[in-house]
Amino acid sequence: MNQLSIPSAIATEEPVLPMEAKPHVIRTKNFAGDAADFILQQAHKAIGERNEFRIALSGGNTPRPVYSRLAAIAHNLPWDLARITFGDERCVPPDNQESNFRMAWETLLAPAAVPEKSILRMRGEIDPQIAAREYEEQLDLMASQRGEPIYTHDLILLGLGDDGHTASLFPGTAALEETIRRVVANFVPRLNAWRLTFTFPLINCARHILFVVGAAKNPGLIQRVLNGDRQLPAARVDPSAGEVTWMIGE
Ligand code: 6PG
Repeated sequence: MNQLSIPSAIATEEPVLPMEAKPHVIRTKNFAGDAADFILQQAHKAIGERNEFRIALSGGNTPRPVYSRLAAIAHNLPWDLARITFGDERCVPPDNQESNFRMAWETLLAPAAVPEKSILRMRGEIDPQIAAREYEEQLDLMASQRGEPIYTHDLILLGLGDDGHTASLFPGTAALEETIRRVVANFVPRLNAWRLTFTFPLINCARHILFVVGAAKNPGLIQRVLNGDRQLPAARVDPSAGEVTWMIGE
């Protein structure tokens, strides 16, 4: 069969793929309240449709007031129908002040009395490769129980790092190129540390992504991501069948 000849100019260009779905951008002075309301609304929607709410929490500092507010307004949410996962985790014990689990525990999980069976913690305290495999197998089991090829979150919360990272998908790191695995251990040279993180295949399977970005975040960085600058990992969040919302504090 004759080979299709592709002009070299086309063959070498990085394809600029249009975003699957235009992000919905909300700028608000009531950041924590509006983000918490959004999450609660998504929870009720998922429970109404599938009798469960599968949410991945993001880490860092920005989510703290959001989680505290959510714990305050979601007292009548059936948390036993929630499945709470973590988009990434530092490789530290759960009581370490760097732990994303500890931050979520202090602000949301304990105050809202979320039952243990609803929480799937990434074990940052063990070998990163083993922890990533273990978490991936747990997600794969839940996916297979629901007849899904890949575990499908109702909502994944994501933050935005100053270098454009999201979850623990940092610029220039190996995890960015992962196209099969759902959860990996990722060494981050700039931190000289291992992280556990969702990969783009898992993130881009979500029904809805909510970026939670505080008022202090650089507006130019946010605009570069929204413009689809794929040098920034956050710009590669592009769920094939899901929606993306940005909740940006003013
Ligand atoms: C983490 C987060 C990370 C975070 C950004 C923003 O483990 O650090 O998951 O992706 O969302 O670094 O962090 P801040 O909210 O602290 O700015």
